[in-house]
Amino acid sequence: MTKLIVGNWKLNPATLNEAVALASAVSVSVKSELYEQMVLLPPFVFLEELAKKFRQIQWGAQDFFWEDKGAYTGEISLGMLKDIGVGWVLVGHSERRRMFGETDETVNKKVLAALSQDFKVIVAVGELQRDDGEEVIISSFKKSISGIKLQAPSSKLQDLIVAYEPVWAISTNPGAVADDPARSNGIIGQLKLAAYEMFGDESKSIRFLYGGSVNAANAAGSLAQPNIDGALVGGASLNSDEFLRIINTTASVS
Ligand code: 13P
Repeated sequence: MTKLIVGNWKLNPATLNEAVALASAVSVSVKSELYEQMVLLPPFVFLEELAKKFRQIQWGAQDFFWEDKGAYTGEISLGMLKDIGVGWVLVGHSERRRMFGETDETVNKKVLAALSQDFKVIVAVGELQRDDGEEVIISSFKKSISGIKLQAPSSKLQDLIVAYEPVWAISTNPGAVADDPARSNGIIGQLKLAAYEMFGDESKSIRFLYGGSVNAANAAGSLAQPNIDGALVGGASLNSDEFLRIINTTASVS
């Protein structure tokens, strides 16, 4: 399985001009064969312009609402995203869970809606407190992805990507350090087992990423782990040189 690198820009940069400059710096330097291993998630308001200007980049949204239209002030639908050429969505990031009231139930509704509309869905799970055990992560994971129907001929699971993000390893949280790659490899192994119990062999098409203080210096250590199929990168995706070095790491570990 080739490695996937997702850049989550969060609430950055401050202006459209800066967003275009960042995308441009990535786009001029990324090797053409690596485009399909890279996804960028800018803030909503920059998406349309970026998707128009940089068609070869795979663009995604950091969130959305599961209804198509109606009285849902402040929300964005999957149809609107599709209309501007966006094919990827992130769901259930810990910042949305912690600060904006996202729950496993709302994450699950979003996962099912996005898969049914043929989006690629990155669902984030992880412990919210440092001492939350594996059971907390696995239970949240199972609830977040429950109810996915395996319908022939095409399994939806190839469109599902799971990002394991220990909240204490996210670079903007106080005292954050990247997780020990062997430990996250072990947790992701447990998540893969839980997915196998839910979906059998079809679960093998789900990709599992690690996210939390990934940078150019430590990416190879994570990506070389057998269970880790890629990285969800926050802060380091805002620096084009650093992000390109992470992308280039995939070539040596795939
Ligand atoms: P950092 O890479 O800045 O730790 O952020 C991780 C993350 O939250 C990506 O979604």
